[in-house]
Amino acid sequence: MIPINLPKIGEEEVQAVVKVLRSGMLTSGLGAGPMVTEFEKNFAKFAGVKHAVAVNTGTAALHSAVVSSGVKQGDEVILPSFTFVATAEAVVLAGGKPAFADIDAQTYNLSPSAVEKSITKNTKAILPVDLYGFSADMKPMREIAAKHGLALVEDAAQAHGTTYAGKPAGTFADAACWSLYASKNMTTGEGGIITTDNDQIAETLRMIRTHGEKAKYSSLMLGTNYRMSEVQAAIGNVQLQKLPSFVAKRRQNAQQLTKILEKSSRLILPWESKDRQHSWYLYTARLKDGTETERNKIVEELKKKGIGAEVYYVNPVHQMPFYRENFGSTKLPETDEASKQVFSLPIHPGVKAEQVDYIGKTVLSLL
Ligand SMILES: Cc1ncc(COP(=O)(O)O)c(C=O)c1O
Repeated sequence: MIPINLPKIGEEEVQAVVKVLRSGMLTSGLGAGPMVTEFEKNFAKFAGVKHAVAVNTGTAALHSAVVSSGVKQGDEVILPSFTFVATAEAVVLAGGKPAFADIDAQTYNLSPSAVEKSITKNTKAILPVDLYGFSADMKPMREIAAKHGLALVEDAAQAHGTTYAGKPAGTFADAACWSLYASKNMTTGEGGIITTDNDQIAETLRMIRTHGEKAKYSSLMLGTNYRMSEVQAAIGNVQLQKLPSFVAKRRQNAQQLTKILEKSSRLILPWESKDRQHSWYLYTARLKDGTETERNKIVEELKKKGIGAEVYYVNPVHQMPFYRENFGSTKLPETDEASKQVFSLPIHPGVKAEQVDYIGKTVLSLL
């Protein structure tokens, strides 16, 4: 089976981990050991911002960023439903109420006009997602946030290598949250990191990460243990150096796949512009006017032929029982339609040119 994603770990990561293990310094109870500190410095440089705060999952990154941006009990946060459930979890864990808004059909990302329509007197923040590795439309989001005095937190979990207006993902947000889970463009196994230019947000994030403390045994706010270990950071430092080559290979595979798939009139293929470049975390095609049954059949057949096609996200969050029961039902026609028609194909750096060829031709033969 050609898996939908696969971490690319080499001897350099192995050596980096061994070095940490031999050092005896595995973590720091104060929040960040030397490896974590180095990783944060490197990641902040990569993202072009002042601060990066490393944590132990992308979900932890989102939760602490939502809290740090000022969301409190009862506040509404506008976010897409067409995302991984962690985006919404972060809002609920912070005591907020997720207000799901619809997507733009072309990019699958939160629609700025849908955001404007969802604003109420209780709205506190906007939380767009860079879905599949394609940036949300951040300039209009920034304008809406400024006009209404809202915080802007970006879920950049899938966006390592994404650019928007020629800048890395996260640049236009108050805080951007990245996942370092094993499937992502770069990984630390499990892990997450938040980038921000805002000193106050960074300080709060560092406190939340380690029990609300600045000094030991003197909690200033509610915190938790979201610390990243030295081992994770050691892997992250190596992976970050390799990221440009990983993204270049993904791009090459995506271009090759597009060349094959554009022969079919039944597919809507991912797009990008000079101004908005994909990280190619997921190559997602859409079956034009297709039914859910038809799409599912294609995915099933691809799997039988050794191609690990997947549907992200088959159940948009607003349709999940917990969210429906607690936050009511919402009408999101573009989200519902997309979730029935999309399917993603493997293009990670481990996929060889001949396999891309096989994937493309197999999809064409099934249409
Ligand atoms: C869009 C999105 N948000 C949040 C997360 C949560 O990240 P993690 O799995 O590292 O907690 C993920 C990744 O799994 C994701 O894809």
